[in-house]
Amino acid sequence: MISLQSTHALLDTADTAFGRDVLFGLSQPQKQVPCTWLYDHRGAELFEDITLLPEYYPTRAEVRILERSASLMAHFAGPQATLVEFGSGSSRKTPLLLSALESPAAYVPIDISAQVLLESVVGLQGRFPHIRMNPLVADFHKLKRLPGMKSAGRRLGFFPGSTVGNCGPEEAVDLLGKFARMLGPDALLAVGADATQDPRLLLPAYDDSRGVTAAFNHNLLWRINRELAGTFDDVGFRHEARYDAVRQRVEMHLVSRHAQRVQVLGHEFRFARGESIHTESSYKFGPIKFQALAKRAGWTPLALWMDDASRFTVYLFERSF
Ligand code: AVJ
Repeated sequence: MISLQSTHALLDTADTAFGRDVLFGLSQPQKQVPCTWLYDHRGAELFEDITLLPEYYPTRAEVRILERSASLMAHFAGPQATLVEFGSGSSRKTPLLLSALESPAAYVPIDISAQVLLESVVGLQGRFPHIRMNPLVADFHKLKRLPGMKSAGRRLGFFPGSTVGNCGPEEAVDLLGKFARMLGPDALLAVGADATQDPRLLLPAYDDSRGVTAAFNHNLLWRINRELAGTFDDVGFRHEARYDAVRQRVEMHLVSRHAQRVQVLGHEFRFARGESIHTESSYKFGPIKFQALAKRAGWTPLALWMDDASRFTVYLFERSF
């Protein structure tokens, strides 16, 4: 049975939050928009296309790792576990865990796009007819608690895809701490994070030859135009990926090709030629650093797996007391 737990109230507030975030972000000295707003239905589709690109190594690396690690994770989780996925999107990696778990009690996917969530849950329910599906429309950063998850088994949080890389180190500690509180005592958490530091690999992964990442970035401008009465001229901006070696992060920017003025919700914003909007950061955490962050958030490392090229890492943690 599928029951959509969130309601339109959440979506309505998300819309005004979008307006507030954009007006605030475009007023900063370095213009910026929080990256969650990239992921509307179209954005999620374009991100799916990114994961299939030859240059975008993280998804393939993580899938290979999950194929090797799922049975041990399932062993730790035990029978009747509840799988909770943060930012589930297409749920493409979920079957690897659901099919390894021993009679799982429920699957709780959490995603900001209701449409994406329903599409993926309908697909999964067909494949796993006996597992209860409780999709939750929410921005998992803002979520305080998970709605009633009574089950005999443990909860296994699943946070794949290097989504945690959208957070800087301090934000990552906050977020992982929130997950610990949400999932409750004796929970487990599986997290995938990218550790790559080589700009020769990173820059093509975030600026591919087919322009899919550029389209993903530009989709934000279309969304602002559509939902916030924006007047962005799409071709007036170009996609740029930058690597910041000090902060160990890739940044996506939309760079203004010339001096211009843009309206959003009746407010005017000026762009100098070459001025950018910072639209996403992808932090790259090495294993030592990442496990230290997780420990500060209340998680004890149980295991970690890397791909053959040592680029991507999947971690398994357990709540510490
Ligand atoms: C979904 C945040 C993991 O940072 O690699 C990919 C997003 N942006 N290409 C990443 C993304 C541009 C992706 N995450």
